[in-house]
Amino acid sequence: MFKKTSIAAVIAATTSMALVLGGCAAPGADKTAAPAKPDYGKMSPQALAEHLVFESGSYDLQQPTQEGTTGRHRLVQDETMKICSEAAMKGGQIDAKTSERINKLAAATVKYPEGGIKLGDWKKGRDLAWSGFGFRTAHNPDDHGKGAPGANCYNCHQLATDRTGGSLGPSLTGYGKLRGNSPEMLKYTYDVIYNPHVYFACANMPRLGANGVLTQQQIADVMAYLFDPASPVNK
Ligand code: HEC
Repeated sequence: MFKKTSIAAVIAATTSMALVLGGCAAPGADKTAAPAKPDYGKMSPQALAEHLVFESGSYDLQQPTQEGTTGRHRLVQDETMKICSEAAMKGGQIDAKTSERINKLAAATVKYPEGGIKLGDWKKGRDLAWSGFGFRTAHNPDDHGKGAPGANCYNCHQLATDRTGGSLGPSLTGYGKLRGNSPEMLKYTYDVIYNPHVYFACANMPRLGANGVLTQQQIADVMAYLFDPASPVNK
């Protein structure tokens, strides 16, 4: 699932980077200055495509976001994303050593709930899985004062069959029924939701826990949606 265009990687970045960047802007930095007009003739096809998609009126990257920065700041990559994007642009895979390093960096970000991993309320998890609200960079950045950010699972996964899901990630239909709910399976799933790079270096799945999009309680709710026998995912 790693070989995506860098545009896809940047779109994933938009979702997954959000909170990490909060507060990173230099104090007093001019957040409204327009970028210098690039020389199209000197741009690579890749750079030109990204410019046209992200900067030439499709998105207003100068708009403020609720983290106190601008849409542009959400596209700044951290170390892991830089490694992954560079490899993707070269059209290659990362080597085993790099993959392992990313897995380790990711594992260090995971924080577990006191008292262990428990399942929450599958109905709340369902609402979260359905909702793609929050941290979007578009014509109008989402106003988190009007609604809590969702988990966006259906954008990439098929889960319950009462609605259509995306196919960027594997189908998760029947998740708990097929895999059981051993402590190992619960931990694996918590880790994947918290930071998928623990197992899948460079996966285009947002790091929902590590980047503060979902709380531990919300992850427990999403997990209930995956594991609870009463959840539509397992019907
Ligand atoms: C932007 C797309 C995207 C979103 C949003 C997303 N995922 Fe994923 N997910 C992926 C991709 C891609 C993979 C596969 C990674 C790989 O194999 O490299 C994956 C893998 C997984 C896996 C491991 C698959 C397995 O068979 O063990 C689980 C579990 C999972 N996602 C759950 C979720 C849940 C729950 C949500 C919502 C909280 C979610 N994902 C949101 C893209 C996404």
